[in-house]
Amino acid sequence: MGDLARLPLLEKAPTTHAGLLAWVEEVAELTQPDRIHWVDGSEEENTRLTDELVAAGTLTRLNEKLFPKSFAAFSDPADVARVEEQTFICSENERDAGFTNNWMAPAEMKAKLRGLFSGSMRGRTMYVIPFVMGHLDAEDPKFGVEITDSAYVVASMRIMATIGTEVLDKITATNAFFVPALHSLGAPLAPGQADVVWPCNPDKWIVHFPEERSIWSFGSGYGGNALLGKKCYALRIASVMARDEGWLAEHMLILKLTSPEQKKYYISAAFPSACGKTNLALLDPTIEGWKVETLGDDITWMRIGKEGELRATNPEAGLFGVAPGTGWGTNPNAMRAIAKGHSIFTNVALTDDGGVWWEGMTEEVPAHLTDWQGNSWTPDSDKPAAHPNSRFCTPIDQIDMLAEEYFSPDGVELSAILFGGRRKTTVPLVTQSRTWSNGVFMGSTLSSETTAAAAGQVGVLRRDPMAMLPFIGYDAGDYLNHWVNLSAKANQERLPKIFLVNWFRRTADGGFAWPGFGDNARVLKWAIERIEGKADAVETPIGYVPAAGSLDLTGLDLTHSHVEDAVRVDPEEWAAELASIEEWYGKFGDSLPAALRSELEGLKERLAAQ
Ligand code: GTP
Ligand code: MN
Ligand code: MN
Repeated sequence: MGDLARLPLLEKAPTTHAGLLAWVEEVAELTQPDRIHWVDGSEEENTRLTDELVAAGTLTRLNEKLFPKSFAAFSDPADVARVEEQTFICSENERDAGFTNNWMAPAEMKAKLRGLFSGSMRGRTMYVIPFVMGHLDAEDPKFGVEITDSAYVVASMRIMATIGTEVLDKITATNAFFVPALHSLGAPLAPGQADVVWPCNPDKWIVHFPEERSIWSFGSGYGGNALLGKKCYALRIASVMARDEGWLAEHMLILKLTSPEQKKYYISAAFPSACGKTNLALLDPTIEGWKVETLGDDITWMRIGKEGELRATNPEAGLFGVAPGTGWGTNPNAMRAIAKGHSIFTNVALTDDGGVWWEGMTEEVPAHLTDWQGNSWTPDSDKPAAHPNSRFCTPIDQIDMLAEEYFSPDGVELSAILFGGRRKTTVPLVTQSRTWSNGVFMGSTLSSETTAAAAGQVGVLRRDPMAMLPFIGYDAGDYLNHWVNLSAKANQERLPKIFLVNWFRRTADGGFAWPGFGDNARVLKWAIERIEGKADAVETPIGYVPAAGSLDLTGLDLTHSHVEDAVRVDPEEWAAELASIEEWYGKFGDSLPAALRSELEGLKERLAAQ
């Protein structure tokens, strides 16, 4: 240690884990914090930290009656989202990062980062947060330790993961491996220098070293860049661990569906950001007798169980959901969870009575608000009151419809996997794949339209394999190969069936071809009935779509001829789609699995034979 004043703090460290102590010491040496605090995760600690954040102006305490024990934070306007262009996968070989990731040689990146982190915590407290993603009692618990100089990150990590003393004790007792996840706002304070409300740095770097399983994040306080257990660990680093250990880390929800006969089914679904995962996970079915419960809304870890079944768990402990569009009308289950409090909101608007509001929360727009940038706002204002990427961060156990299996370290056996995107044309409401590798083909060619700024303009199509484009921590072709090969390790009878869904198809008049939301339960029912051999389907070149009368439309003002618009497979649209898929597959070079190339050939032949 260069600075002897810090030594006693390390001597008092609540662990004897040599690797952890050495890393904490090394980071303290590099970043030069004023203090080191080992996070215990207790209520008292959280109260003290949030009190300090309120005193510093970073958090605004909300009205206790409206949102108990809840706070709002307002970020720097230049620090509101994930920064994909500054996100790197620094594998030893560039080839292993693949064409979907930014890459730099690890030694070069480390040298750059050491320069940035040097002295970056001066004047601040360095928090050491022991955490576990998934169950602490899992067979092979996935530990991490995040070092950060942001108390906002500590308070948010406490909601999103299991953190603190019980985790550290287990890391120590089992001398466990942990992912070292280093985060700094990159805003050191000189002696006497006043702090700002949201410290950050214009230079942002979100860097992963997959072989080392380490994360370095610099310059941003925004959740997706700073809560390192979430996208950085549970998706990017975990996807690499999963490749090496034979499992999958995915951008998926998990739900439990109970039929009127009380039979239980578990379904996972991968949709790109803002394409409806949180909505489907918290769905209120509109069909009699069917019940949905939630296990997860964003990240799923899947592994083959002892009997060759595919088991799924949610490694997160909280929801970090997009606020705008989450309302009492569209997602009352999420709203009820939020209203129980214990939440941190970021970049939402404030109501005059000390609550929060965002576009779509209520039908009635409040007459006056303080917008996310602190300006007085009325419905006449030309800017939204809440930032479009404003978020709520809420403990998952506040969801009334949380399935009890969420708490099981072994997770649940999946019956079905859905892949879905936002497509105005071409992709039917639901298509069952012919086989596992045909289903992997569907996932690998998943696509979604980015909504263009100008209204009515056709969205830009982006391929987003398994909704993982920003999160695959290694070569995308190798990732698809891992998916293809998983079936060989499973019991074929018990492999989940794979479906492609699209809630967003339009009719000629521009409206949605399918009502969506709670009515999506009808599609879940059809999928389950396909698995049970009860629902009829039509075989098409792309897979099986619902036959007339096989989708339950009870109580809906729709007939199958209406629904025909939603389930149609149009040869012309698919000719264009085929060309687009071929172009996409061209990007993989020789890392594209042969099984998927032959799926493409098969599709081509079936379309030509029509
Ligand atoms: P991330 O949390 O960012 O990964 O996204 P997400 O997949 O959880 O997205 P979310 O559920 O927040 O998606 C919300 C958007 O999808 C909103 O604009 C919703 O109105 C829309 N949406 C969700 N389900 C449906 C549906 O069934 N039909 C239609 N038309 N829109 C839907
Ligand atoms: Mn997400
Ligand atoms: Mn979500």
